[in-house]
Amino acid sequence: MKLFIDTGNLREIESLVPLGIIDGITTNPSLLAKESADPHALLKQICTTVRGPVSAEVVATDADGMVREGKELAGIDPYIVVKVPFTRDGVKACRRLVDEGIRVNVTLVFSPNQALMAAKVGASYVSPFVGRLDDISTAGMDLVKHIIEIFDNYEFPTEVLVASVRHPIHVVEAARLGADICTCPAAVIEAMFKHPLTDIGLEKFLKDWEKARQAAKV
Ligand code: G3P
Repeated sequence: MKLFIDTGNLREIESLVPLGIIDGITTNPSLLAKESADPHALLKQICTTVRGPVSAEVVATDADGMVREGKELAGIDPYIVVKVPFTRDGVKACRRLVDEGIRVNVTLVFSPNQALMAAKVGASYVSPFVGRLDDISTAGMDLVKHIIEIFDNYEFPTEVLVASVRHPIHVVEAARLGADICTCPAAVIEAMFKHPLTDIGLEKFLKDWEKARQAAKV
């Protein structure tokens, strides 16, 4: 499973990319609004740092506006993937952008039928939002499971990009279901590194090693 960081923060990206586990980035208007940099310049810097797909979302709500903005975003860097919300206009814009050779991530997906329609218009990625479904007492991972089943039935090439990830268990569940990608806030990726038994084990190895070295000296 590919791991993306869900962020617009360059420092988070620069700290995680050298680890070699990051395959791409997703941003959204809320994430980019938190940063002080010019959004287009920031997206360019992100693309240069990651060298993998970087989702950048349109804010227009009509198909013509989405296509216009999508083309502008795609012009920033070849790694840009244009993110469009799942609406009637979003579906229409997705088809038009795909026909122009631009990769699209259809976002704000909350039902299997939305994912099916996004796949039919050639989206490269669909983004089911698991955390926001969990927030309203609906199992977000059931949606992922159903989308994967549908895409497998018809061999849609669209990749399932699990989004709105809140904790490391979401990542485990996404991987067990065979999702293509999981996009995580940096804090979730940091949490995935932690295990107290690893820390305790390492401390003991190093202590034993030092004890043996001291003993060898006398
Ligand atoms: O990038 C879209 C998605 O991951 C947002 O997550 O936590 O705002 O529901 P969240």
